[in-house]
Amino acid sequence: MEIKDKVAVITGAASGIGGAVCEELARRGAKYVAMVDMSPEIVGKADEVNRNCGRLAAHAFQGDVTRSEFRNQVFDTVCGEHQMVNVCVPAAGIVRDSLAVKVNRTSGAVEMYPVDVFRQVTEVNLIAPVYWAMETVARTAQYRHQHGLKRWGPEEEIQGAIIFIGSVASQGNKGQISYASTKAGLEGAAATLMKEAIFHGVRCGVIHPGYTDTPILGALGDEYVEKHVLPETQLGRLIRPEEIADAICFMISNQAVSGELWADAGWHPAAA
Ligand SMILES: NC(=O)c1ccc[n+]([C@@H]2O[C@H](COP(=O)([O-])OP(=O)(O)OC[C@H]3O[C@@H](n4cnc5c(N)ncnc54)[C@H](O)[C@@H]3O)[C@@H](O)[C@H]2O)c1
Repeated sequence: MEIKDKVAVITGAASGIGGAVCEELARRGAKYVAMVDMSPEIVGKADEVNRNCGRLAAHAFQGDVTRSEFRNQVFDTVCGEHQMVNVCVPAAGIVRDSLAVKVNRTSGAVEMYPVDVFRQVTEVNLIAPVYWAMETVARTAQYRHQHGLKRWGPEEEIQGAIIFIGSVASQGNKGQISYASTKAGLEGAAATLMKEAIFHGVRCGVIHPGYTDTPILGALGDEYVEKHVLPETQLGRLIRPEEIADAICFMISNQAVSGELWADAGWHPAAA
């Protein structure tokens, strides 16, 4: 699928991987990139993307991706202008790391990971991306229905691509019970949408980045990265967000690609 002249909605776009995806889509000639994030920095980031590509491709939308009214507003605005969204990368995500069960050294009390925090991570990392993806499929289905188009067929051009951002943590990672559960959950959602959404001409895949140099890693701290991440990473360095953005654009543009892509810089943690 040609990225040139396509319409995209990217969440988590004010920072890290989402921001890099917007830069790369604009660089490759996307017509309209809706940059979605709850951070006010989204406005400056959209300006930066426009400056770098030399045209008005990026448009900032500030809000919380877990709110369905906000999601509707974004899609109403974009589809009002361009009818359909071709590319959706719901990249907004959070980490709230802690062991699943731990013993408090002073009191001796055994504590479980707090359920309200688990729910919050699930809202942002699993439910929201799935609904932004389904909204993309729904708007495409609506457009096709309104234009008398029935089941998509291979003789037609593919109309859309959704790429979820999983993680190497989807295979399990110490201290990441909520994060790992949500990222593994995206695999099930993508595998299902992959089967359903092609009816409307939309492809769906998951990329699993390894440790990537973005602000989300701040929660781990530099010392943890030095001691525990880099020694277990074959490349011996963090992945750059632009490398993940490049891999995502490959997944979007190469129609033969389906399923999951691991972009982990050769991360092979010890078993314990
Ligand atoms: N950096 C890594 O090592 C790594 C590895 C694997 C997967 N990922 C995934 O990549 C995605 C992007 O992460 P990143 O590394 O760029 O982190 P990041 O912290 O740089 O960016 C995340 C963005 O999401 C936004 N966001 C969070 N909650 C939101 C909400 N409710 N509504 C709207 N915006 C919200 C934040 O404001 C932030 O701009 C996440 O899904 C993350 O889980 C990151």
